[in-house]
Amino acid sequence: MNEKIDLTRIPNHIAIILDGNGRWAKSRNMPRIYGHRKGAFNISDICEYADSLGVKVLSIYCFSTENWKRPADEVKYLMSLPSRFFNHYKEKIRKSNIKIVFSGRRDRLSNKLNMLIDEIIDITKDHKGIILNVCFDYGSRDEIIRAIKKLVPDINSGKVNLPDLDSKTFANYLDTKDLGDVDLLIRTSGEERISNFLLWQIAYAEFYFTKVLWPDFSPAELDKAILSYQSRNRRFGGLKEDNK
Ligand code: IPE
Ligand code: IPE
Ligand code: MG
Repeated sequence: MNEKIDLTRIPNHIAIILDGNGRWAKSRNMPRIYGHRKGAFNISDICEYADSLGVKVLSIYCFSTENWKRPADEVKYLMSLPSRFFNHYKEKIRKSNIKIVFSGRRDRLSNKLNMLIDEIIDITKDHKGIILNVCFDYGSRDEIIRAIKKLVPDINSGKVNLPDLDSKTFANYLDTKDLGDVDLLIRTSGEERISNFLLWQIAYAEFYFTKVLWPDFSPAELDKAILSYQSRNRRFGGLKEDNK
């Protein structure tokens, strides 16, 4: 750990758009899926390291609702990655303190993958360490529309009183309902866009963009992101202490 990091000001919720797997593979004259494989296995190192720093929630963007547009063989491989990853790490995960949850659509995933996701959620549900929020077939606009579809029946039945509806109540209908807002959003690979990730939850997040490609993103790179975060002045629309 970088000794300049202030352990009393670690972001609670870090979200990562893990980008650049394809370019990482291409630069090695390897097929894109080689980068996806390397990228998937990097997640466990970063998650363990984030946990050791005291990060409470790590949201990772693994497959977007838009990624279905990719060539069929790449989509097929990306769909197989959760099974490769979780079957490899299942016993380690079971013995660990990491709690794993999922955000995103479940209706377009295979039965086999849905069963595995349910199993992983179940075996980690009482774990008290970092929460790893795996965003898979996830798109923020889709999440918000699904939230509205769950909310409307509750309004119609009187469970929610429409005039009282506020952002706190609405957030309870999102996939991330127990996870809270994002404090630090990281995107690797040099792209500086959000690509439909956690639009609601990043309202007051600090952004950190790095050219490092995801398979090369190491604990030392996470340190750099956190140091940058700790140098920011978060005002949430208010004023800095010395400007009051
Ligand atoms: C990120 O890497 C992983 C996914 C989007 C699934 P990319 O596959 O987008 O890699 P680049 O951006 O093409 O290098
Ligand atoms: C965003 O990366 C999605 C994930 C990391 C899963 P993309 O590579 O798909 O995003 P764009 O197409 O560059 O915006
Ligand atoms: Mg990309």
